[in-house]
Amino acid sequence: MSSEEEDESVIGTKEYWDTLYEGELNNFNEFGDEGEIWFGKYILTKLVDAVCRLVIDKETTTILDIGTGNGHVIQRLLSRGYVHLTGIDYSEKSIELARTQIGSNIQFQVIDMTASDTSLLDHFDIGIDKGTLDAILLCSSDQRKAKREAYVATVHRHIKNLLFLISCNWTRNELLEFFQPKFSLECEIETPTMSFGGRQGKTVTFLVFKRND
Ligand SMILES: C[S@@+](CC[C@H](N)C(=O)[O-])C[C@H]1O[C@@H](n2cnc3c(N)ncnc32)[C@H](O)[C@@H]1O
Repeated sequence: MSSEEEDESVIGTKEYWDTLYEGELNNFNEFGDEGEIWFGKYILTKLVDAVCRLVIDKETTTILDIGTGNGHVIQRLLSRGYVHLTGIDYSEKSIELARTQIGSNIQFQVIDMTASDTSLLDHFDIGIDKGTLDAILLCSSDQRKAKREAYVATVHRHIKNLLFLISCNWTRNELLEFFQPKFSLECEIETPTMSFGGRQGKTVTFLVFKRND
């Protein structure tokens, strides 16, 4: 089995996310549990701080949370004063959970970022992806290239300025290869490094891309 095939996972299936968010919805309704914070609170704070540094106009900038999950990125941005926030996910259960947790003043939509037709989705100044491209690319290896290209094309169609992207499965150079020439690197945000066998590496890569015309 090749390393690409080994990377296949249930995390790459919609059934996995539907089941997870159904459980989170029950936990929220019963115990008020806010659910899992993907990559943890430290990375979430890094993300929100980076958005606050680079996206100054909180009143007019439109922001899309790509693969919103339980909506906690949107909740944090709301609490930091951002107004025009939209969350999308291909799991109906995610959207139900995020709507239940956050309320009706925020736009949520069921959208598959790898679908060929995403015309129901609006256009946004900023896109945020925390772990969604990772999940998409855990599909079967024969679909991976097509899904990656479809994802990048969708983001390019709908995001007008910056894309904040956090990944634990792909390195900086791999991500640059995926997104160029449609996007170029605006900056890299520092994340913790770890050493193993005398080599240093990152557990999470955090890049900000700028859309090219
Ligand atoms: C690792 S979770 C991250 C969720 C959220 N961004 C967070 O930080 O907690 C990946 C999310 O991507 C969503 N997802 C996976 N494939 C998708 C696709 N093709 N289109 C839209 N959302 C997708 C999943 O339903 C899940 O909510």
